Amino acid sequence: MKKELEAIQAEVLQALKQINTQDQLESLRIEYFGRKGKLTDVMKGMGKLSKEERPIIGKLANEIRSSLSDAFEAAKTALDSKQQGQQLKAESVDITLPGRKPTLGKAHPVMQILQRIEEIFMQMGFQVVTGPEVETEHYNFDALNTPPDHPARDLHDTFYLTDGHLLRTHNSPVQIRAMENQQPPIRIIVPGKAYRVDYDVSHTPMFHQVEGLLVDRHVTFSELKGVLVSFARQMFGDQTQMRFRPHFFPFTEPSAEVDISCTVCQGKGCRSCGHTGWIEILGAGAVDPEVFRAVNYDPEEVTGFAFGMGVERIANLQFRIPDIRTFYENDLRFLNQF
Ligand code: PHE
Repeated sequence: MKKELEAIQAEVLQALKQINTQDQLESLRIEYFGRKGKLTDVMKGMGKLSKEERPIIGKLANEIRSSLSDAFEAAKTALDSKQQGQQLKAESVDITLPGRKPTLGKAHPVMQILQRIEEIFMQMGFQVVTGPEVETEHYNFDALNTPPDHPARDLHDTFYLTDGHLLRTHNSPVQIRAMENQQPPIRIIVPGKAYRVDYDVSHTPMFHQVEGLLVDRHVTFSELKGVLVSFARQMFGDQTQMRFRPHFFPFTEPSAEVDISCTVCQGKGCRSCGHTGWIEILGAGAVDPEVFRAVNYDPEEVTGFAFGMGVERIANLQFRIPDIRTFYENDLRFLNQF
């Protein structure tokens, strides 16, 4: 039995040298120490030994078992640290490699222009307010003196939703909302999206407008001119000329379309301005008394002016792109140029 025990010890020590993985180590442990293991078997045979032999062999068996179990422990530790070393090596980072530069977002070109427009009017004391893009026919048309039979209400131009709702076709309905919410004096601009059924090189179905409204006692048309000329010179340069052409809007009387001297040829006439020297940038006028009546203001007491401009149009004057639809195609090669 002594020989058997010593043979097992030698076997196990030899086998431990061949072990490469935790799994192999575990099967070896079961092979010798398990319930049906080789060492366990030998120990079971101890009952058959004589009284004299039993303590000696018992002692030897215990020594062998404990020395083997130390050897297992040592093998396990060695495997662990070997594994850890391999893992560290596999996950190692080369800190000498140059880093990757994170791409930074920036404002969309149309937003850059919108922010500049807001800045200029805020310096003149205008407050920035916003309103809903889903509007009612009342705010978008009726309260703005645009009756149901008016051609502007045509299905052709307007995205109608259900229950008398629509996508606002301009930012003018916010004039009405502002006047319902506060008493004069009012001095606001309304930046935001508007929608029209339109799609060509100079129109997208969604576009941006900045509406302006000023209401107080004794406001005159010359103040409207003063504000707009000041805006145009800050936006397009000190030399910019401005002209007002008579026009019609249901919600202003008198009304005008407003042109600036062409930013390409400075008014001499070129392809950009159709050889006229002028480029239209906005619509404006004195607030129609009917609009004041719709919000219970007394037109004998207050007067005011309003204007509305298209932001993509102005962005295009600054950036000169052949097709404004490219603003909304989300091609980074295009957008990164601004
Ligand atoms: N709402 C008009 C448009 O979208 C612009 C405008 C606003 C005209 C205010 C006059 C006064 O065309």
